Amino acid sequence: MIILITGISSGFGLAMARQLNADGHTVYGTVRRDVEQLPGVHYLRADVRDTASVQAAVDAVLAAEGRIDVLINNAGMGIGGPVEFAPEADVQLQMDTNFMGQVRFAQAVLPAMRKQGSGKILCFSSIGGVMGLPFQGFYSASKFAVEGFCEALQIEVRRHGIQVVLIEPGDFSTGFTAARIKQVSDAAVAAYPSLRQSVSSFEKDEQTGLKPEYLARKVAKIVRSRHPKFRYVIATFIQKLSIPLKRILPARTFVRVLSLFYDVK
Ligand SMILES: NC(=O)c1ccc[n+]([C@@H]2O[C@H](COP(=O)([O-])OP(=O)(O)OC[C@H]3O[C@@H](n4cnc5c(N)ncnc54)[C@H](OP(=O)(O)O)[C@@H]3O)[C@@H](O)[C@H]2O)c1
Repeated sequence: MIILITGISSGFGLAMARQLNADGHTVYGTVRRDVEQLPGVHYLRADVRDTASVQAAVDAVLAAEGRIDVLINNAGMGIGGPVEFAPEADVQLQMDTNFMGQVRFAQAVLPAMRKQGSGKILCFSSIGGVMGLPFQGFYSASKFAVEGFCEALQIEVRRHGIQVVLIEPGDFSTGFTAARIKQVSDAAVAAYPSLRQSVSSFEKDEQTGLKPEYLARKVAKIVRSRHPKFRYVIATFIQKLSIPLKRILPARTFVRVLSLFYDVK
């Protein structure tokens, strides 16, 4: 299969490129800086915030291969800190990267997939895309947006033989934690006293989380599957449990549980 993955410089993208290449697929991946290249993987330059570079990356794959069977919308980043203190520029960066970046790539591959009458678009959401995480409010918002557009898209493109899949990872140890843009200023801490404790607690959960190779193996199965599900939660048992708990528990109780889990006092 011809597979295009966004953001293969580190984390999930790198692990998926390695796994899918080893599985015998033709793998193209985007980067926005020089990186050590995996043998056999084709590297393309693209910034998901730049529509022209997104279109150029997709055109390059189509020119070389004539088709794209799978798009993996993986590239993303996070901002952290209280909603009240998030600079507007950071909020825009968050939405432009995580939401609009996926929209741009989906729109760029859809004409070719429609002509083919087949294709798979995997979009990276998060457990934070199904519940609002404290001090990651805009990260959650960007992933809720991904969930919403994918829910609609899957219905629209079904008749063209295109499948849309949401990937909802829990905590994984990748470059994501180090790349997070944080607002933990003295003013923010004065207003939200548990901020530092909460941020260091969820960052520790990420850094001691599952390895990206685990997710890459799961994604490789989804890529192979003729009839994939719409949603895959890839996480520890406890993290997976939080999703049905949100549905089952009274809203107030669920908020208490999340507050405890995230050390928010
Ligand atoms: N790690 C977790 O616990 C976790 C949990 C749930 C969901 N996720 C999601 O998983 C996806 C991958 O993240 P990761 O954990 O693998 O983090 P990562 O190691 O930081 O990798 C993120 C990738 O996205 C790329 N990227 C960021 N901004 C970009 C832009 N504007 N244009 C092009 N590429 C860009 C990065 O490129 P550079 O190296 O150039 O920055 C990098 O290749 C993200 O969508 C994230 O939200 C992660």
